Amino acid sequence: MRYEHDVMIDAARCIGCGLCEGDCPAAALAVEDGRARVIARDCILCGHCVAICPKGAVSLSGFKEGPRELTAGAPPTLDAEQLLEAVGARRSIRRFTDEPVANEVIERIIEAGRLTPTAKNAQDVSYVVLRDDIARFEAWAVRLFRRVFPLVKLANSMARRTSFDDRFFFKGAPAAIVVIARSDIDGALAASNMELMAQACGLGVLYSGYFATAAAMSRTLRRELGLLRGEKVVTALVIGHPAVRYRRTAPKEEAAVRWR
Ligand SMILES: Cc1cc2nc3c(=O)[nH]c(=O)nc-3n(C[C@H](O)[C@H](O)[C@H](O)COP(=O)(O)O)c2cc1C
Repeated sequence: MRYEHDVMIDAARCIGCGLCEGDCPAAALAVEDGRARVIARDCILCGHCVAICPKGAVSLSGFKEGPRELTAGAPPTLDAEQLLEAVGARRSIRRFTDEPVANEVIERIIEAGRLTPTAKNAQDVSYVVLRDDIARFEAWAVRLFRRVFPLVKLANSMARRTSFDDRFFFKGAPAAIVVIARSDIDGALAASNMELMAQACGLGVLYSGYFATAAAMSRTLRRELGLLRGEKVVTALVIGHPAVRYRRTAPKEEAAVRWR
């Protein structure tokens, strides 16, 4: 967590119902003498206590945004069919039009990442938006790959058929969002929700795994992206308006599931 936060309980509002105590994964709250009390400060600041309190008596200090009330206390629902349709119809986009992507749209996509859960509520995911500088970052990655690609070609027939050009990583897209995290799963979960949001905004997305590989290999790239010790590029989401239209879903294997 980048900033200092504290769980605060407004004793005047607390009715001692114990919902916060029962929902706290860190056993950091207890009801004593009819009022909730913080009994440990080393919790993960997940905010369940804030979210569940029927009287709004619990708060977390130090955040810019306050909690948003949910309609009639019910969780927002997604249409199951629409969600499956969206997940199934998405495709990796490798051809983009020249149309730019508005900053507000990029901010919305990042918002979907920001709101994604992280293990232990680490909130360890950060983002570098490549727009004006996208060509410079791509050029670094291209320079690096030009050195290793001949070796890859020796061992891999698909690589031998692949044309490696100056747009190998970002495919001429107007923007890419580099997803940086300490934990792979935290970064990947954020990226997945961001991809869905980009799709909802009418954009196409490509996960540039090769750019993540380039960043892992290049100190220059890591420095220019501003990575801190322990951080890595989990992926780069290449985004733009698709220049291709897919007419049907692509076949997928059946799910490999074992019911025990
Ligand atoms: C984590 C991840 C990294 C990927 N990296 C690249 C990449 O660097 N370059 C590329 O052309 N495609 C990349 N892809 C796209 C995959 O090749 C693609 O997902 C796969 O061909 C299936 O196609 P679909 O995404 O349209 O279903 C990546 C996909 C994922 C999920």
